[in-house]
Parts: sequence; C-alpha cells; structure tokens
Amino acid sequence: MVEGGEGGGFKNKDDVALMVLLPLIREKVDVPIIAAGGMTCGRTMAAAFALGAEGIQMGTRIVSAAESPVHDNWKQAILDAAETGTVFLNRHGQGPALRALKTDRTAAIEANPPDHIMMEMANALDLYFGGDMNAAIALSGQVAGRIDAVKPIKTIVDEIITEFNSVMKAMAAQA
Ligand SMILES: Cc1cc2nc3c(=O)[nH]c(=O)nc-3n(C[C@H](O)[C@H](O)[C@H](O)COP(=O)(O)O)c2cc1C
Repeated sequence: MVEGGEGGGFKNKDDVALMVLLPLIREKVDVPIIAAGGMTCGRTMAAAFALGAEGIQMGTRIVSAAESPVHDNWKQAILDAAETGTVFLNRHGQGPALRALKTDRTAAIEANPPDHIMMEMANALDLYFGGDMNAAIALSGQVAGRIDAVKPIKTIVDEIITEFNSVMKAMAAQA
C-alpha cells in the first residue's frame, strides 16, 4: 500500500502527494503496489497504474457509497465538500497526523491543537452513526471535492472499470 497525503485518515506528519510518492517507491521495490489517496474514477486509476501501481484502494469514495454504514450527514458533507474542503491536523503534536473534513470541530482543533489528538475521537460513534459532524473528526480525503453522488458500490466499481478501459484505450491509440 502506498498512500499519498491527499488521502483521508491517519497520515505521516510529513505528508507527500501520491504523484511524488508512488513512482518513488515503484523505482525502489519489486512487489505489487496498491495506490491510495485521491482514487475515485477510471482516470485516477489509470494514473495510478501509469505511476507504477497494480491496484487501487479508495477510502473517502467508499465512505460515501450507498452501502456505507456511516450516517447520511457524513455522506452529504462529502458531496458538499470542495477539493479544498479538508484539513491536515496534528502536523506538530503527539500522535498521528490526519486528514479530515473541515468542520467547526476540526477548525477549532487546527486553531488550538489538543495535547492528545486521539482524544478527539472519543465520541466517534456519535459522528459515524449519530450524524453529529462535530462529535469527532470526520476522516476524509481531498477527493471529497470530486464526489457528487451517493452510489451503490457495484455502480462505483463498474463505472471505474469502464472509464479505466476507455482511458487506457485512448492513451494506447496516441502511442
Ligand atoms: C473514515 C476513514 C477511516 C479510515 N480508517 C483507516 C484505518 O483504520 N486504517 C488505515 O490504515 N487507513 C484508514 N483509512 C485510510 C483508507 O484506508 C484509505 O487508504 C484512504 O482513505 C485513501 O485515501 P482517499 O480517502 O483519498 O480514498 C481511513 C480512511 C477514512 C476516510
């Protein structure tokens, strides 16, 4: 797994974008790579394969899926978010850094970093299943800015594969 800093969730404090990280690691290892961070469509999958991956992992897109058990408020917040709608928290504090949706809660954390970032997840169930977007930190990636509909997983995967194949064909035709 190679995950860029644009992805949602816990992160290396020294975040590096997938565009830089993936080819860097591809050139140094000889094992299959799954790329994560910003994946949501056939185009991003084709880009990941071009950079050296053999597979992709999606986080934020799957949180937004119809079958995802998180509260609809979180899914709606992903749909509403722009590509600038996330924040990178805890770059300098103890514990992991993380990328999350901009909310009143995460804005307050950014302005006044807590001593223990993980304590901010104490009421995560109220966020995940209760829909209180300020109960904890809503882990999500920058790709939220590209997600504009809640769709079933099968539709998401089918659309990605169809677009991936057409992008690859178009690129091969230009070669
Ligand atoms: C709500 C949420 C929870 C996550 N939890 C974990 C986790 O427990 N462990 C982990 O390794 N990655 C976790 N991730 C990271 C995802 O597995 C995935 O690699 C990442 O979201 C990819 O970036 P994307 O959000 O741009 O798709 C989480 C991501 C999200 C959005």
